[in-house]
Amino acid sequence: MAVDLLLGLQWGDEGKGKIVDVLTKNYDIIARFQGGPNAGHTLEFDGIKHVLHTIPSGIFHDNAMNVIGNGVVIDPVIFNRELNNLNKFEGIDYKSKLIISRKAHLILPTHRLLDAASEASKGKAKIGSTLKGIGPTYMDKTGRNGIRVGDLELTDWKDRYATLRDKHLTMIDYYDAKIEFDLDELESEFFAAIKVLKSLRFIDSEEYLYQAQKSGKTILAEGAQGSLLDIDFGTYPYVTSSNTTAAGACTGLGVPPNQIGDVFGIFKAYTTRVGSGPFPTELFDEAGETMGRVGNEFGATTGRPRRCGWLDLVALKYAVRVNGVTQLMMMKGDVLSGFDTLKVCTSYNYKGKEIDHLPYNIEPENVEVVYKEMAGWSEDLTGMTEASQLPKELNNYIDYLEKELETPIKIVSVGPDRTQTIHR
Ligand code: GDP
Ligand code: IMO
Ligand code: MG
Repeated sequence: MAVDLLLGLQWGDEGKGKIVDVLTKNYDIIARFQGGPNAGHTLEFDGIKHVLHTIPSGIFHDNAMNVIGNGVVIDPVIFNRELNNLNKFEGIDYKSKLIISRKAHLILPTHRLLDAASEASKGKAKIGSTLKGIGPTYMDKTGRNGIRVGDLELTDWKDRYATLRDKHLTMIDYYDAKIEFDLDELESEFFAAIKVLKSLRFIDSEEYLYQAQKSGKTILAEGAQGSLLDIDFGTYPYVTSSNTTAAGACTGLGVPPNQIGDVFGIFKAYTTRVGSGPFPTELFDEAGETMGRVGNEFGATTGRPRRCGWLDLVALKYAVRVNGVTQLMMMKGDVLSGFDTLKVCTSYNYKGKEIDHLPYNIEPENVEVVYKEMAGWSEDLTGMTEASQLPKELNNYIDYLEKELETPIKIVSVGPDRTQTIHR
């Protein structure tokens, strides 16, 4: 059986958690392949909202095994908090449903401190990182200094930990910006959380997934962040430190490219971004304020307000191509109800020339946005359950996007709850 992928096509927070939860009934395994607790994946059902950071979004179903793949970076402290939250909900037997790759890297307390020191020293040029230690941990991974989950089964890992920690402390001193911390406290919390982590099952996840596939099991790989935050293809340097695009699922799980099946691409009916970096269709007016308020656009991990703007087809086409998207899912259509007119960015005026591909540099001084206007709709979509109920202006919007993106939109989401999902 092929492995399907689900990926965000914008700057993250497209609604991946919700849709993975909706699709989990069709899969035996849900596997996270990159990122770490910088992610905040929200899902809602039975009137309760859950936010997951490291744990795959299939955890609330009994039919699926949840795998944290080798490409993920795990902060034991945040992971422990997530498990405690699951404990609060009776019947969630996470110990039998959650398994972790031995090759996943660990975020140490000093990785978080390094993230904070690096950002503070950048001043205005800061990335707007979630400060979860993601960049420094991936740097140690590629620098071949990292500590992996499987190391916890060895006896000498604490020596290696101490060496790496001491190096980090020297590096923290190097930064001009001084940050306050209590290392003893951070370490006692860390080691307590490591004990909890060790109570879970560690696996060689590439072998596990290979055998699962061979025996006919269905697998969905759950992306984190979004394509425009990809370390190679995103708006560098305002990106995260992993490959968030389709290829990341191959390296982050050990799945060969010829085993990839459907690539589900998720996007909001408009655009948001949290953190710094270029955002050509960003709005600073009442329309943007309305999107933020109605869409409740606050980061699920940091609580920061998300910047809002119109849909950017130039960026979306790019993301569809880079990922090889086979099916699209449009989220938060309900948030646009009540706008008389909608705008969609169809091309950029780039250094005096009209282009419809994403150029190397999309800083505001290089790009002027060209919009197409479309009629909006006033109907409240949140109670709708069938495609036949959708207003004609929304159908026009969907038809237009499908044509431009040359890909079908198979799901239209009309609210945060599991049930507010229309299949087309
Ligand atoms: P993720 O990181 O891609 O999983 O997305 P987040 O959970 O960070 O952000 C998406 C937010 O939108 C969450 O608060 C969801 O509950 C909410 N959401 C998802 N789909 C819809 C939708 O169709 N309509 C509305 N109004 N909210 C939605
Ligand atoms: P999910 O999976 C939105 C952004 C940060 C910052 C940049 C780098 O919930 O969609 P990092 O912490 O990785 O060093 O931050 O990337 N960012 C996200 N934005 N959703 C996310 O995850 C994000 N993860 C990181 O705001 O701009
Ligand atoms: Mg999120």
